[in-house]
This record gives sequence, structure tokens and C-alpha cells, in this order.
Amino acid sequence: MRNDLNGHHSFLIWFTGLSGSGKSTLANLLEIVLHENELRTYLLDGDSLRLGLNKDLGFSVDDRSENIRRIGEVSKLMVDAGLITIAAFVSPFEKDRQLVKDIVGAENYLEIFVDTSLEECMNRDVKGLYKKALAGEIKEFTGISSPYEKPSNPSITISTEEQTPEEAVAIILETVLLKLAK
Ligand code: ADX
Repeated sequence: MRNDLNGHHSFLIWFTGLSGSGKSTLANLLEIVLHENELRTYLLDGDSLRLGLNKDLGFSVDDRSENIRRIGEVSKLMVDAGLITIAAFVSPFEKDRQLVKDIVGAENYLEIFVDTSLEECMNRDVKGLYKKALAGEIKEFTGISSPYEKPSNPSITISTEEQTPEEAVAIILETVLLKLAK
């Protein structure tokens, strides 16, 4: 009934990739485009969720799992509420991403791998975190001292070194629009 009222289906669009890979940039741009198309959305982002709901969590393997599990549960509520939910989290472990997929249901889960190389993320180093991680000032940093497991079967892979953000969002939008009508 909520979907009928909104005039579209709701599902979760999950961005995964290294810190600095461009997840938030793409997620923000995608949300703007969806909003312009009068679709109801909500954006969940690692950097903001860790200031509130998940501020008790750090970056150990267990804490990252709990971070992602909670986001999965929140995403499920938002999808149930009828929102196209967009989530941008490093989410480095396949088993955690699989759990999110199980929580929201495979039919409601679209996984986007933002495939930016570690070298490029280190070059960009927008937040200066790679520099600190390399200097040993940040422990368990993804790509440096903590692993990133590439998705084995993402719905879409974006190469930010070959595509502009606008091109990438156009590709994602094609799949999203198809899913909206289902
Ligand atoms: S996740 O691994 O649990 O999915 P999440 O997406 O919430 O991570 O948060 C990642 C963001 O936290 C990064 O973009 C970066 O700004 C910051 N951060 C701080 N410490 C770390 C760390 N040790 N590893 C990765 N990201 C970190």
C-alpha cells in the first residue's frame, strides 16, 4: 500500500568500496537525480551514521560487522516504509554484505561495487586518512592494515578512474529505473 501511494517500488541500493573510492559522491548524485524524478529516497552514509546510531563502534572486524548489521536492519525498515534507500559503506567483508542482502531480501538488494584502485584512493586521499594509516596513526585501516574483500557478484561495477560521476550515475539509473517498475 505504501508503494502504491508512492507510485514506485522500494529497495536498497548498496554502495561498497574502499575509503575515498567515490561511494558518497555517487550516492549523493544518484539521490539528487532520483529526487528530481519525484521518487522517495533516503541516504545512509558511513561517515554520518558513525556519529550517531553507531558511535559506540570502531573498526575491528566485529565492530564493522555490527555496524553493517545495524545498517541492514535500518535499511529494511526504510524499504518497508517505501523509500528507495541508498547506503554508502566501506563494508569490506562479503559475509556482512550477504547478511544485508538476507535482511532486506535478495529481490530488494542492488549491490554497486565502486571499483577504485587502492593506488588511486591513496593519491586522492581526500580526508588525509591514508597518510595517517601509512604512518601507523590509524590502526586497521581498510586497504592498508585491514582487508577489503571485493564483491564476487555485484549488480553493477563502477570504475571511477574511467567514468565521470555523471556517467556512472547514468549507468546505475538504467538498472534502478527497471527495478522501479517491478
Ligand atoms: S565499515 O568498514 O564499517 O563499513 P564505514 O563505511 O562505516 O566502514 O566507515 C568508513 C569511514 O570511516 C571511512 O570513509 C573513513 O572516513 C573512516 N575511517 C576511520 N577509520 C577507519 C578505518 N580504520 N578503516 C576504514 N575507514 C575508517
